[in-house]
Amino acid sequence: MKVKMKMTLLPALTLSLFLFLSLPSPALSEPERCNSKDKKVLLEIKAALNNPYLLASWNPATDCCDWYAVDCDEISSRIISLTIFGGNLSGQIPPAVGDLPYLQTLVFRKLSNLTGQIPSAITKLKHLKMIRLSWTNLSGPVPSFFTELKNLTFLDLSFNDLTGSIPPELAQLTNLGAIHLDRNKLTGTIPESFGKFTGSVPDLYLSHNQLTGPVPKSLGNLNFTVLDFSRNQLSGDLSFIFGSNKTIQIVDFSRNMFDFDLSNVVFPASLTSLDLNHNKIFGSLPAGLTALDFQYLNVSYNRLCGPIPTGGKLQSFDLTSYFHNRCLCGAPLPAC
Ligand SMILES: *[C@@H]1O[C@H](CO)[C@@H](O)[C@H](O)[C@H]1NC(C)=O
Ligand SMILES: *[C@@H]1O[C@H](CO)[C@@H](O)[C@H](O)[C@H]1NC(C)=O
Ligand SMILES: *[C@@H]1O[C@H](CO)[C@@H](O)[C@H](O)[C@H]1NC(C)=O
Ligand SMILES: *[C@@H]1O[C@H](CO)[C@@H](O)[C@H](O)[C@H]1NC(C)=O
Ligand SMILES: *[C@@H]1O[C@H](CO)[C@@H](O)[C@H](O)[C@H]1NC(C)=O
Ligand SMILES: *[C@@H]1O[C@H](CO)[C@@H](O)[C@H](O)[C@H]1NC(C)=O
Ligand SMILES: *[C@@H]1O[C@H](CO)[C@@H](O)[C@H](O)[C@H]1NC(C)=O
Repeated sequence: MKVKMKMTLLPALTLSLFLFLSLPSPALSEPERCNSKDKKVLLEIKAALNNPYLLASWNPATDCCDWYAVDCDEISSRIISLTIFGGNLSGQIPPAVGDLPYLQTLVFRKLSNLTGQIPSAITKLKHLKMIRLSWTNLSGPVPSFFTELKNLTFLDLSFNDLTGSIPPELAQLTNLGAIHLDRNKLTGTIPESFGKFTGSVPDLYLSHNQLTGPVPKSLGNLNFTVLDFSRNQLSGDLSFIFGSNKTIQIVDFSRNMFDFDLSNVVFPASLTSLDLNHNKIFGSLPAGLTALDFQYLNVSYNRLCGPIPTGGKLQSFDLTSYFHNRCLCGAPLPAC
C-alpha cells in the first residue's frame, strides 16, 4: 500500500519540483537582498530623473540588487556601485545619490541631456573611490569639495561643459591615480599645487580646454607618468618636466604656445611617447633622443633647426613627425 502510493506520488512530486524551479514565483524565491533604505533612495533617484525608460528595471516589487546599473556588496548587500551609461535621460544629477552611503563607484556617462552642476551631496559618499561624470552636459565649476572624498582614486569629469579654473585643492587628494578634466571649457592656469601631491602622483589629462600661462615649475618636482596638456593656450618653458632622473612615460604638450630651447633637454629613458607639435619650440633636437625606445614622436610645426640626429628610433618615423620646422633637416626630411 505504502509502496504503491509512493509510486503514484513520485511523478506529481517531480512535476511540482520542476515547476518550482522553473517558474519565477516571487512568493517562493530567495529573500530580497536589497537594503530597504538603499531601495528607497534609488526610487527617489528614478523619480528625480522623471522615471526614464533607461531605469525601467527599477521596479519596487523586485530586488534592487538585480536592477540595471546597480551593484550590491556580496556580504552587506549595500549598494556599492551606480553606473548609469548611455541613454535618453534628462535632468540633473539628483542630490539623493549622496544618500547611498556605501557607494564606491559613481558613473554618469554618455548622457547628453544630463545638465546642471555637480551636486555637493556627493561629499557624503565617504567610501567613494571612483567618480566618472563624463560625456554629459554638466556645467558650472570643477568643485573643490572633491577633497572631502579622501579615498578617491579616480576622478573623471571629461567631455562636459565645465567652466572656471582648476581648484588647487585637488592636490590634497593623496590616493589619486588619474585626474581627467579634458574637453571642458576650463580657464586660468594649472595650479602650482599640482607639483605638490603628497601621496600617489596622478596622471593628468587637461587637454582641450582654455588654460593659459606657464606650467608651474613645481611640476618638475614630481615623477609623473602621463601628462596631457594638449590643445590649450599654455606658454613658456617645459624643460623642467624632463631630466635624466624622471620616470615620465607619455607626454602630450601639442597645440599650445610653448617656447623654449630644446637643445639641452635631457629626456629620461622611461619616455615612450612625446608629442610637441604646434608650439614655438626652438633650438635643435638633442642627440640623446637616439637612445630612447620611442613608440611615438612628433615635433612638427615648431621652430626647430639643424640635423635630425641619426640612430635609435628617429629614422623610423615618417617626415610628418618633423615637418614644418624652421630648418630641421636630414632623414626622414630632405638632406641638410
Ligand atoms: C534630449 O532632449 C531632447 C529634448 O527633450 C530630446 O529631443 C532628445 O531626444 C534627447 N536626447 C537624448 C539622447 O536624450
Ligand atoms: C528621449 O526622451 C524624450 C522624452 O521622453 C523623447 O521626447 C525623445 O524622443 C527621446 N529621444 C530619443 C533619442 O529617444
Ligand atoms: C548638450 O551639448 C551639446 C554640445 O555641446 C549641445 O549641442 C546640446 O544642445 C546640449 N544639450 C542640452 C540639453 O543642453
Ligand atoms: C579608505 O581606504 C582605506 C585603505 O584602503 C580603508 O582602510 C578605509 O576604510 C577607507 N575609508 C573609507 C571611508 O572607505
Ligand atoms: C623619480 O624616480 C626616480 C627613479 O625611480 C628617482 O630616482 C627619483 O628620486 C624620483 N624623483 C622624485 C622627485 O620622486
Ligand atoms: C634630479 O635631477 C636634478 C637635476 O638634473 C637635480 O636637481 C635633482 O636633485 C635630482 N633629483 C633627484 C631626486 O635625484
Ligand atoms: C604630427 O603632427 C602633425 C600636426 O598635427 C600631423 O599632421 C602629423 O600627421 C603628425 N605625425 C604623426 C606621425 O603622427
